[in-house]
Amino acid sequence: MLCTELPERDFVELIYKVVGAGTTMMSELKNGDPVELLGPLGEGFSLENQGGNHLLVAGGIGLVPLYTLAEKLCQRGDSVRLLMGGRTRDDILAITEFERLGVETYVSTDDGSLGEQGLVTAVLSRMLNSFADASVYACGPVPMLAAVRTICHAADVNLQVSLEALMACGIGACLGCVVPSKDHSEKQPDYLCTCKQGPVFDAEALAALVNEVFT
Ligand code: FES
Repeated sequence: MLCTELPERDFVELIYKVVGAGTTMMSELKNGDPVELLGPLGEGFSLENQGGNHLLVAGGIGLVPLYTLAEKLCQRGDSVRLLMGGRTRDDILAITEFERLGVETYVSTDDGSLGEQGLVTAVLSRMLNSFADASVYACGPVPMLAAVRTICHAADVNLQVSLEALMACGIGACLGCVVPSKDHSEKQPDYLCTCKQGPVFDAEALAALVNEVFT
């Protein structure tokens, strides 16, 4: 399915989950409260040299950064499919918003309460049988990303992942958000800053995905 054209916008929309002090404060903001924003920061998804078929794989709130990606791909007139996984139907968010863009959506839940019962990675494996030339983009828990990377690596398909990390400065100064690169070792530490060099990385650059070490 080809996506529809999108209108220009002059506002910023934030989707977030309340998980700590910062997001609690955000949830208590009222209409008209002043808010300072710094950004955009870091590196987003690269759309250079990508073909016209795209598979977006989301786990839980990992759906959020994939929305703006879907918008951009839709603006190019590309074919976009969203594979959304969660534990239960309560984890499945904003599907309608993607469908309004013209994105074809596939939902799976662990308990079968919405969509197909099972893991989103099973849906991805099936999809890659039909779209062997697809580019894949994923965001979600690291074990899910590692499983997605294993599937894409075996299928020789390009995969970009958007990482979730606790961030303080956002500009590469505090080193609070670093993740080991695939070349990292105790003798030769090698880290990547999620805020500055990411949050989007080529999956092959990350130790947690290449070596499947979740710390
Ligand atoms: S948040 Fe400070 S270095 Fe990334």
